[in-house]
Amino acid sequence: MDLRKNKMAVLGVVGAAAIVGVGVYTSDAMKSSACGFSSEAERGRVRADSCKSCHEISSSTGELFAAGPNLLAVYGSTIGTRHLPGGRRNAALEAARDAGLTWTDANLEEYLKGPKAFLTRVTGKTFPPVNYMPYDIADPGPRRDVIAYLKFIRTRPDCT
Ligand code: HEC
Repeated sequence: MDLRKNKMAVLGVVGAAAIVGVGVYTSDAMKSSACGFSSEAERGRVRADSCKSCHEISSSTGELFAAGPNLLAVYGSTIGTRHLPGGRRNAALEAARDAGLTWTDANLEEYLKGPKAFLTRVTGKTFPPVNYMPYDIADPGPRRDVIAYLKFIRTRPDCT
């Protein structure tokens, strides 16, 4: 057995792992520590897995999901200006957009609690059921966590 060759092979593997570690977070734990999430945002990141069955949350420009828009930069943006998959339009979100509303903490909080109640309140109108996101988070704690996560990744797209 050529000992020197083996040692080089081991060094090679360690080196490759280090390079991978810099560019891509290879594990959840690595991502958490490298990104410096607050504990709220970290819980929100885990909770936001439930959003990913309908929403993309990434810097990808493709449309992986046919339901909702990409949520990567949703925090702080004007409501209803996100691109909906397939070029669909949403009259309720657009009415909120026309009222000049943005996704602040308070608006996200109210929307995630009850999309229909929120959009009815801010637009003063009702819309066909298809305009309302068929999802909500009943508990205030997890709602705040998800919002903290969305706020964080707006400036750290590498940390979704
Ligand atoms: C069952 C599918 C589904 C799930 C799960 C879901 N959403 Fe949605 N979401 C939608 C759809 C569809 C829309 C677009 C509005 C519409 O057509 O109802 C939407 C719209 C939104 C919008 C409005 C974006 C804009 O353009 O202004 C936000 C914000 C949002 N979702 C956040 C979330 C978050 C955060 C989660 C997870 C906690 C989540 N959604 C989970 C389907 C879903």
